[in-house]
Amino acid sequence: MSYLIFAPLMILLAVPVQPQRFNNVGKLTEVFAWKQMTYDINGIMVLRDRFAEDDLAGGDRDRRSADGLYFNYNDDGKKNWEEGQIWHDSPTEQPTTPTVDPNDEIGRFFVQYNNVPMGVEKVGNRLFITIPRRRYGIPATLNYIDLSVQGGRSPPLTPYPDMARSTSMVSVYRTRADECGRLWMVDTGTIEIPNNPRYMQTPAIVVYDLRTDRQILRYTLKSTDLPARNTPTGLASITVVIKNGDCSNAYAYIADVVTYGIIVYSLKENDSWRHSHNYFHFNPTAGNMRVAGQSFQWNDGVFSIAAGPEGPDGCRQMYFHPMVSHQEFSVSSCELETRTANQTAFQVIGHRGTNSQSTMHGYHAPSRVMFFAEVGRDAVSCWHTDKPLAPGNMGMLAQDQLRMSYPSDLHVTDDEVWVMANSLPRFIYSRLNPNQYNFFVYRAKVADLIAGTVCAAPYGPNPFYPGNFFMNI
Ligand SMILES: *[C@@H]1O[C@H](CO)[C@@H](O)[C@H](O)[C@H]1NC(C)=O
Ligand SMILES: *[C@@H]1O[C@H](CO)[C@@H](O)[C@H](O)[C@H]1NC(C)=O
Repeated sequence: MSYLIFAPLMILLAVPVQPQRFNNVGKLTEVFAWKQMTYDINGIMVLRDRFAEDDLAGGDRDRRSADGLYFNYNDDGKKNWEEGQIWHDSPTEQPTTPTVDPNDEIGRFFVQYNNVPMGVEKVGNRLFITIPRRRYGIPATLNYIDLSVQGGRSPPLTPYPDMARSTSMVSVYRTRADECGRLWMVDTGTIEIPNNPRYMQTPAIVVYDLRTDRQILRYTLKSTDLPARNTPTGLASITVVIKNGDCSNAYAYIADVVTYGIIVYSLKENDSWRHSHNYFHFNPTAGNMRVAGQSFQWNDGVFSIAAGPEGPDGCRQMYFHPMVSHQEFSVSSCELETRTANQTAFQVIGHRGTNSQSTMHGYHAPSRVMFFAEVGRDAVSCWHTDKPLAPGNMGMLAQDQLRMSYPSDLHVTDDEVWVMANSLPRFIYSRLNPNQYNFFVYRAKVADLIAGTVCAAPYGPNPFYPGNFFMNI
């Protein structure tokens, strides 16, 4: 009798509860969504605001008792920011009395509301998530989720490579992995508090070896790469290209959206230089934006650089666009490799359509399709690069005013497209609702995305997907 009563209950208990996944947007599948971000730091869950990180340090530090301590913070922000240290926790200055107004966020370890994820990148079993420091209270600017472990809709972030070492970086917008097992990024060195940016250290290219999780390069950009005081705040993306399959011959291309340039770094030469061009500037007639219920004018220039296939001469077409623009441009990588590019070698590729302002784009070599994260249309779109770039050749793959609001990152890896959407304008101009889902990560297979769209192979079967793409012949 008791068996009959309890058997159904035991079956219920034995089956793990699967989160419901009916939250796809168009052809993209939701992987994760967060109302607000949380952290797992040294095995301790950080779920709400806290002032200090003492008891998260993993034993190396003196434990101090309460969250209610405040630490000294230099106004110039410089003195306390040393490699491997927490900036508000200098060993030489440990005041016992509060020096910061409790209502002030300066020096707080975690202000949950301020943690807006920007970049997403899947490398193997890890999903790297960046949170640029545009406010105080961000525990780590570079984090990851172990995809082989984490389930659930809203997993916590873990600082990369760990909490202690993550503090050497001030602020990272987006990362990119290369095919040599390395993760590249720009540390802007800046805490971008509105109207009060703090320039903590000179921007640098930082590279981690993903096999050892060790930092293998920190290249400080030259003063000639950084023409203006506010240039560091514009170093939004990095694109890495390996030449002729030689891992020692890598080039990084950094888009500077604020002072309109492309910075090139050669790993072999360990040197960097900067290009300027009119096509890096915003289009003033594309500056009126309406995103996440907010109307505003932006002036972001060159934002994303996507590398086309390598030709027999080792050169690639580098596609790029300003964010405030509906156009796409390109230039040969070999032109950018020279210190002084031929100004007439830059080309206009075409026009994507009205309201097609885009943050990041990524090229999938086997299908020759470019994917765009479109902030102006709350969308992810595609274009087959064999066709002229024109509105009629753009395929809309996913569109949603809430759940694809401000797609802030997009990249192509392992024949998949990964996207982050974060409702950024609502955070900047209004207020996010912490009781709603605000931040989303999506994925989709390239083959599924483009099937049946204008981006499917235009000229017969695609050799990469034999038998799959006979449409649109
Ligand atoms: C690269 O150049 C920088 C100076 O710009 C120098 O400090 C650094 O040591 C160099 N690294 C290598 C590996 O040569
Ligand atoms: C610059 O590029 C244009 C267009 O590709 C070409 O016609 C011209 O010869 C180039 N000039 C130089 C100096 O290489």
